[in-house]
Amino acid sequence: MPLSARSYFVQQLLRWNRLANKRHMPWKGEKDVYKIWLSEIILQQTRVEQGLSYYEKFINDFPDVHALANASDTRVMKLWEGLGYYSRCRNLLQTARMVQDIYEGHFPKSYETLLKLPGVGPYTAAAISSFAANAPYAVVDGNVIRVLARFFGINRPAGDAVGKKVFDQLAQDILPNGRSAVYNQAIMDFGATVCKPAAPSCGTCMLRSRCYALNQHAVSSLPVKRIRPEKKDRYLHFIYIQYKGKVCIVQRRQKDIWQGLYQLPAIETSSKNFPAHFRPILTSQPKLWDDTDYTQVLTHQKIHARFYRISVIKKPEIQDGLWINEKELNEFPMPKVLVHFLKNIHK
Ligand code: ADE
Repeated sequence: MPLSARSYFVQQLLRWNRLANKRHMPWKGEKDVYKIWLSEIILQQTRVEQGLSYYEKFINDFPDVHALANASDTRVMKLWEGLGYYSRCRNLLQTARMVQDIYEGHFPKSYETLLKLPGVGPYTAAAISSFAANAPYAVVDGNVIRVLARFFGINRPAGDAVGKKVFDQLAQDILPNGRSAVYNQAIMDFGATVCKPAAPSCGTCMLRSRCYALNQHAVSSLPVKRIRPEKKDRYLHFIYIQYKGKVCIVQRRQKDIWQGLYQLPAIETSSKNFPAHFRPILTSQPKLWDDTDYTQVLTHQKIHARFYRISVIKKPEIQDGLWINEKELNEFPMPKVLVHFLKNIHK
């Protein structure tokens, strides 16, 4: 009987993994659930190349869940600095403390229990439970969607609820029995190194003879992209206020981007210009530091940061302001744009 497309796909993917997958990553084959969990949280919304050094730093500084659970928020946030999406970091700490207190330091491996941890959704629970315990849950991330869409010719975007269901169901249906750990890692690696978004290696691909996209000349149009809404522009004007050799910083507490991080006091506007007559707190207008446009693009918004300076002889009343020595600035976890700015001015 001829092999079905699904059986062929799984067989060839595992064969590729055995014979040709050269991708090395430190968490591959790892069985310590704490380390698997850490890698998966870091890799949420982060490319492997960027996440690698963070994984190494975290494992080095916090080799087990107790070390992480007992660390201060500021120390952990500081180590996370630059990775973005800081709710991941807050959830990371909360989970470590939960595992220490509720599970006596033993990281859960079961899909259902993992789902109860802050920051662990269906994708991450599938990844951790399959890698740690071979549990039968398929991972579905951007790599997996691309591979499935191209090979099976799925002509719909995966971004809406129905599309997500189609891909989840297919991924789950083809998951080979008792081989979820190796298969899940293999399909992600295959998407990252062979069935790449741009310039995929179709010429030498071990699945080429039955790939829908290759045979129908649809490689560049699959997966079907969802139309993204335009990003909102936000202009943040940060003021470097110097008073007797000290500088003022504040912690971002509001439910917004960068919650928990520190920054220079700021004013937000919806256009590029600093409010012309902004003097309620400072006695004179701050001067623009330079004309560099520090931008940071997030999922739904584009942040434009501008920096200003002012030196004052009377200490201004800044709500929740912390007056610190300039040398201490790099001890506080800050958003990327501020880290870049501070690096530039101290060059
Ligand atoms: N992205 C999320 N988890 C991953 C993993 N284990 N390997 C490669 N990329 C990933």
